[in-house]
Amino acid sequence: MTRSELDFGGLTAIPALIDPHVHFRAPGGEQKEDWETASVAAIHGGITTVLDMPNNTPPCTTLRAVEEKKKLIDAQLKSADIPLRYGLYFGADKDHFDQISGASGSCVALKIFMGCSTGGLVIDDDEALDEAFRLAAEANMLVAVHAEDEALLARKREEFAGASDPAVHSQMRPKEAAIRATTKAIALARKHGARLYILHMSTLEEVALVRAAKQEGLQVYAEATTHHLFLSEDDYAEFGTLVQMNPPLRSKEDQEALWEGIRDGTIDTIGTDHAPHTLEEKNQPFGKAPSGIPGVETLLPLLLDAVYHGQLTLDRMIDLTHSNPQKIFNLPPNDDIVLVDLERELTVTDEMIKSKCGWTPYRGRTLRGWPEYVILDGRAYSITRRTLEEKQQSEDCQHGAQGSAPAV
Ligand code: DOR
Ligand code: ZN
Repeated sequence: MTRSELDFGGLTAIPALIDPHVHFRAPGGEQKEDWETASVAAIHGGITTVLDMPNNTPPCTTLRAVEEKKKLIDAQLKSADIPLRYGLYFGADKDHFDQISGASGSCVALKIFMGCSTGGLVIDDDEALDEAFRLAAEANMLVAVHAEDEALLARKREEFAGASDPAVHSQMRPKEAAIRATTKAIALARKHGARLYILHMSTLEEVALVRAAKQEGLQVYAEATTHHLFLSEDDYAEFGTLVQMNPPLRSKEDQEALWEGIRDGTIDTIGTDHAPHTLEEKNQPFGKAPSGIPGVETLLPLLLDAVYHGQLTLDRMIDLTHSNPQKIFNLPPNDDIVLVDLERELTVTDEMIKSKCGWTPYRGRTLRGWPEYVILDGRAYSITRRTLEEKQQSEDCQHGAQGSAPAV
């Protein structure tokens, strides 16, 4: 389905978004998020399908953990009464490589952390990395990489030990770490004939590497995150550890290369990397504060605003947020839609945020283009959000308050 020309009372229908990269935190991180709060947040962002990462506690690295996680998610979605569509990544862990082939049927991809991030998952030796690619290719499973080179990250951790300025985060996890890991991952995809998905690509050089890999005919796909497209190193000054994430924010030049990759088809998808942490956790000093930011509620308004400003077309946005992830992850088609008001202007506030973490690094931005209704599995949800003006006056509408289209 592409953009609908039908008139929905001034609203435009687009296919509901697929977010190929979220951390909804269950099991083990429920103080930050769970699927009851995250499903409401996703609907608020016009997203009806999410693909969830394995860095849980316990990590999702065994078939048993996958089964347990699915049960937990299904129970939380049932409580929310929102049948959000989801897929799970299987976490690569040396101790459980024997389970990769079994996971190929139940998970959307094998996730390999090539560098440490939140949680303990990492594959930091070349032999194991080679084996993971070989097994995934054999099982016809997509390989998704967090591409940062752990050896270089470890050296930088020592070099910058004790640093207190959050902006140092981008030096501690330098571009070179991402470039090295992406180079290595593409070489392994070539060697084993694996399909490769590069998560949250952040640098100009990686865009060039992926462009060349595509020209060579390799099945290499790339994701950009909303934060690397809409935030840069300059934002540490205002937001400090709030905008600390892995891979870190980069320069405006890198950001512009990502936009170029969006426009010329080098970048295939946009993920939120929705990785909520509580404000209390994020407000700790640099070194203690965890990496990651929320994103499912702001992805669509940020992109619609970018469409309004001519940074991409609406059709290209639909490719990136629906058609391409559906193809790459081989997801079953659905008829879910989002009705967006392309002309509505709203200023983002923390109070709008339905994610359990309750904050957003985009607060204060006035964006043009907002989702108003979502149709998920044939059921309409009306989106209510507190605008700046309404903030003082009223409480949010309660679930089910608007007739046949329950308000979320
Ligand atoms: O910033 C990040 N946060 N990057 C990751 O790779 C993991 C994520 C999280 O789970 O918090
Ligand atoms: Zn992530």
